[in-house]
Amino acid sequence: MRTEKKKTHFICQLCGYHSSKWMGKCPNCNEWNTLVEEEILSNAASRNTLTGIGGEGDVPQSISEIETDEDSRIKTGIGEFDRVLGGGIVFGSVVLIGGDPGIGKSTLLLQALNKIASSDYKVLYISGEESIRQTKMRAERLSVLSAQLFVLAENSLEKIIKEVHALKPKVVVIDSIQTMYTLELQSAPGSIGQVRESAARLIMLSKSNEISTFIIGHVTKEGAIAGPRVLEHMVDTVLYFEGDRGHPYRILRTVKNRFGSSNEIGVFEMKDFGLSEVFNPSEIFLNQRSIDVSGSVVVPCMEGSRPILVEIQALVSPTNLGVPRRTSIGVDHHRVSLLAAVLERQLDTHLYNKDIFLNVAGGIRVDEPAVDLGIVVAIASSVLNQPVDTKTVFIGEVGLTGEVRGVSQIEVRLKEASKLGFKSCVLPEVNRERINTDLPIELSGVSSVKEVLKFL
Ligand code: TYD
Ligand code: MG
Repeated sequence: MRTEKKKTHFICQLCGYHSSKWMGKCPNCNEWNTLVEEEILSNAASRNTLTGIGGEGDVPQSISEIETDEDSRIKTGIGEFDRVLGGGIVFGSVVLIGGDPGIGKSTLLLQALNKIASSDYKVLYISGEESIRQTKMRAERLSVLSAQLFVLAENSLEKIIKEVHALKPKVVVIDSIQTMYTLELQSAPGSIGQVRESAARLIMLSKSNEISTFIIGHVTKEGAIAGPRVLEHMVDTVLYFEGDRGHPYRILRTVKNRFGSSNEIGVFEMKDFGLSEVFNPSEIFLNQRSIDVSGSVVVPCMEGSRPILVEIQALVSPTNLGVPRRTSIGVDHHRVSLLAAVLERQLDTHLYNKDIFLNVAGGIRVDEPAVDLGIVVAIASSVLNQPVDTKTVFIGEVGLTGEVRGVSQIEVRLKEASKLGFKSCVLPEVNRERINTDLPIELSGVSSVKEVLKFL
């Protein structure tokens, strides 16, 4: 009797590259020792995730005749969370929530599930990391004890699927995908094959039973070993939960959303009894600002559709190293070096013999070009030791020749600045020419970095 030989292939645990033979270095992501042998499944769910999602309508239909329910979303009642999802959880959708370990993913989802359970939907929280007793202790601390919230401590996908069919919950949370495994694969939980296969099965389960599923995935600093990145294209919505461990503020950011805008954020604060919503982020990011010190500038940034005022702080000091340092927290350091070089041209002093430290207060990250002008002014203010007016905000993108370029959504930014008591705004001249506003805020248009320096 001949036993059939198991077919295997090698998969890069970092990027998911397939190869039929082993290699020391992955040709796709150039990492060493990342290829691991995994079994090929002939009936792998990941190969046919797209079958069986249609339900009753398996024949082509005219789009005008397809009926949708007005009310096909569940509102969690946590406003910041619902907004990030595009107005609530869509029935049958699969949402991936990624984030560093310990950032608060389990906490957020337990709180959200509890809210859903209180409006009488049956929900199931599956933990592969904590026992049900540990989960209960956390739930007590968060006071999330709704009777419709069910908890299961399980790692085996086969058992999970069985329990889900038995309980028939409306919403399921998988915490976390790295701890789940299917018996059909030999590889260890957390390997790329297991992560992908488990996710594919959960997606099928979710689509064919109209269950909304949240999949939690840990991201590691090194770029996500078998992490959520490989799942991004499979799910409907991808959210990242981020923040600085030293600060209580956390930001939930949409990276992809098939059912809503993909650049929304929700702001939360981690307290002793869990996460609470932050309704006016600008206030908290500015509330510890010192008045009349050099190097501090306020910029109205956009986070999705939402304006947030942030304080940019710069400290410029003489260097005692051969190569001056350009350190930044909260903004891209390449951008800071570039802007420092642009500024050096416009100033009479040199910066090559000075260290530049830049920080965005409150632990938030900003990465839109509209903060350029704020960064330039903060650095200049510190170099010249000249404080900027505390009631002025700065907006604008800066080009390499020192020109100040226009930015989008200027009215929304101005409205937020005015709401928080700012009296004037320095903005690109092109924006000022076209603006149509009756806000009590004085506008000064500039078209080059040189012109901005006179505000110091
Ligand atoms: P957790 O939700 O377990 O993180 P994740 O699931 O993303 O790994 O959150 C863990 C951190 O949150 C931990 O450092 C303690 C802190 N925390 C609070 O500050 N308050 C609370 O009420 C809870 C539950 C956690
Ligand atoms: Mg957790």
